[in-house]
Formats: sequence, structure tokens, C-alpha cells
Amino acid sequence: VIDIRSLYAKTGMFTYDPGFTSTAATDSAITYIDGDKGELMYRGYPIEQLAEKSNYLEVCYLLLYGELPNKVQMADFTDRVTRHTMVHEQMHYFYRGFRRDAHPMAIVCGVVGAMAAFYHDSTDINDAMQREIASVRMIAKIPTIVAMAYKYSVGQPFVYPRNDLDYASNFLRMCFSVPAEDFVVNPVVARAMDLIFTLHADHEQNASTSTVRLAGSSDANPFACIAAGVACLWGPAHGGANEAALNMLKQIGTVDRIPEFIAKAKDKNSGFRLMGFGHRVYKNYDPRAKVMQQAANEVLAQLGADNLSPTLQVAKELEKIALSDQYFIDRKLYPNVDFYSGIILDAIGFPTSMFTAIFALSRTVGWIAQWKEMIGDPQKKIGRPRQLYNGSPVRDYEPISGR
Ligand code: ACO
Repeated sequence: VIDIRSLYAKTGMFTYDPGFTSTAATDSAITYIDGDKGELMYRGYPIEQLAEKSNYLEVCYLLLYGELPNKVQMADFTDRVTRHTMVHEQMHYFYRGFRRDAHPMAIVCGVVGAMAAFYHDSTDINDAMQREIASVRMIAKIPTIVAMAYKYSVGQPFVYPRNDLDYASNFLRMCFSVPAEDFVVNPVVARAMDLIFTLHADHEQNASTSTVRLAGSSDANPFACIAAGVACLWGPAHGGANEAALNMLKQIGTVDRIPEFIAKAKDKNSGFRLMGFGHRVYKNYDPRAKVMQQAANEVLAQLGADNLSPTLQVAKELEKIALSDQYFIDRKLYPNVDFYSGIILDAIGFPTSMFTAIFALSRTVGWIAQWKEMIGDPQKKIGRPRQLYNGSPVRDYEPISGR
């Protein structure tokens, strides 16, 4: 038997780190996380301050350009974004090719990738102006794209963007406005929506962002790279967790069934995990979850749903029980941001299938900022992880007649 590992000894050293738990793939000046202290900063600004005092579009500027904008810069950025909110009319036909019951993430993934076909004048990554236009186009159009996926799924006509509204209100209107009815955006709901966008805007080298960087490292066009990020985000261990968490709460149904699900989560043979609990990096608490928990309380009180929703009752009780259970305490498993964002989105009226698409909308700016940083890095190299081969040793081909 050949010891395969000894072959590697002859071909040089490399680290073997499944899940990249201790390997940095890049340096970056965008987002800082201290998982032990529960800290998150965008460009040095604590997330709590940005959540309280800023808004999503300003955070987009900060992530993209490194500094908070002054009034003139903010007005110019807002103007550039709002001028690009409409999607190419031809894209409507593209939507109509999907089945009505298609998952919104399948549609968003396809449509974002297809942007390279509709906007090929901004696909040259070596042209700084084209990179900038592609970035603004994606931030401007992603709410329209996600809202259209929703409207398509419910069989209602697409709603065109309204550029006099703020980013979150415009998105809510594109989702919930119906013809011949005046849609008035509830400011508390709009604020909560903006908060969800802000808290999800970037999170350094998570799976989807690393995917965007890896795709971009081959000089693929920005739309293709962001589509790759959307695809990765879809998984229930990542962005799909908010959908999975809400589905789980609904599956639990009533408070008396919680112990059954807690027992299942502790049983390693069950293959079941409490969705919305735990995080790879935050091992004390998720700072975004704290902000989101408060927003959830406000929205639910405003909508009069705080004491009515059985889902919320299950969520509150589950949180209490899990946090006092030794299994969860020992493993430092706390509710993450997706646990609470799912509750808010449910209260606003979004179906669970839309949750991850809304996460993708929020994260688009982070993906773009990270992609831009990588493209501008003079040390940029194509990403090419090594592997530890554990397959068969060398053997001779046997013709099919002899097998
Ligand atoms: N429910 C029950 N047990 C859990 C959970 C959970 N949600 N999460 C982790 N554990 C247990 C594991 O079984 C393991 O137990 P062991 O030490 O006895 O073997 C221990 O906690 C450590 O788990 P790992 O999988 O090693 O932790 P990791 O850091 O790799 O995983 C992850 C993090 C993927 C988020 C995980 O906690 C999980 O699957 N959570 C549920 C899905 C979820 O909510 N994802 C959202 C992430 S946040 C985001 O993407 C914005």
C-alpha cells in the first residue's frame, strides 16, 4: 500500500484545513469581526452605531468607498443608484420563462447571472468605469429583481420602482403594491426592512463572499461572480437558515412540542439542528441578533402581532429553553441574526421562500465591495486551493472485457 501522504512530502508542504477554520484566504479592509467578543464593524464603525444612526444606502457607500459620504457625495450616490433601479424591459420575458412555483432564489440566481447578457457594456473588469457602473447597477437593480421574483410567484403584475422613495420603502412597495390600490409604506416596517439590509450587508469571508472572490479571481465578469454568491448563499447552513428557521418554528407549531425538537437537536443521529442557532465565528453572541431582536419586538408590537402569532410564541419559548440548556451553553450556541430576521419578515408578510432572496439583496453590496477590493489588489492571484488526495494509488487500466 502506498502512503499517499508521503507523496505530498515530496511535492512540497501545504496546510490541510477543511472548512477553512484557521486559514485566511485574503487580507481585507472592509469588515472586522471578533467572534469571541461578539463585535462586528464595517470599515471600523461598530454595527450597533450604524444600525441606530445610519441607513442602508449610506452603509452601501461606506462599504464600497471606505468612508462615510458627505452630503454632496450621498446625494450623488443616491442619484446614481436611483437612476438604475429599472431593469431592462426585455428581462420581463426572461422571468416569464420560469415556472410560477419556482423558488425565488432559483430565479434571482438566474436573473443576476443573465445581467451579463443584458448589460454587457459593464462586463469588462479591466475598465474602472465599467466596474463602477456594474456595481451601481447591481445595487440599484437587485431590489427590483427580487421584488419581481416575488410578484411572479404570486401571479401579480410587476411593479415598477418609485425613485422618490427610500431604498427599503421602494422595495416594500414593489412587493406589496397591487394595481388600483394606494400602497402606503408603514415607516416602522420600512425602518425594520432597512435594518435587515444593513445588518446583512457584509460579513467578511463567509461562504458566499469567498465564492464571489474565488469566481472573481479568474477575472469572470461581476454579474457572474455575484450570481455565484447567490447560489452559495442559498444553502440552509448559510443564508437559507432564515427560511429554514421559520419553517422549523412552524413545524414545531406549539410550545408544548419544543422539548421534542430540542431532544432531536441534541441527538447526533437525528441529522437535525436547531435552525437559526449557532455561528461559525460568533461563539458568544451574534451582535446583529441583539439589534434584530429589538427590531422584531418593535415591528411585532406595531403590527399588533406580538401576542397573537403562534410562531412568535414558539420562537420566544425556544430561545428561552435553548439558552438555559447545558447542551447549547457548552457549545456556545445562541440564536443568530437569521432567527430574528425570519420572524420580522414573516410578520411583514413575506413567505418563507422569499427570506433568502432578501438576504441576497442585502448582501449584494458586500459581495461587490469584496469583489472590487480583490480586483484592485496588485497581489491578486487566481484562487486555486490544494487538496489532500485520498483516492486509489496508481493502477493499470483494465479493458472492459476483462472487468
Ligand atoms: N443545533 C444543534 N447542535 C448544533 C447546532 C444547532 N443549530 N449548531 C452546532 N451544533 C453542535 C454540533 O453538533 C457540534 O456538536 P458536537 O461538538 O457535540 O459535535 C457543535 O455544536 C459544533 O458544531 P459545528 O458544526 O462544528 O459548528 P460550526 O461552527 O462548523 O457550524 C453552523 C456553524 C453551520 C452555523 C451551525 O451552528 C449550524 O448548522 N447552525 C444551524 C444553521 C444556521 O442557523 N445557519 C446560519 C448561520 S448564520 C448566517 O449564515 C448568516
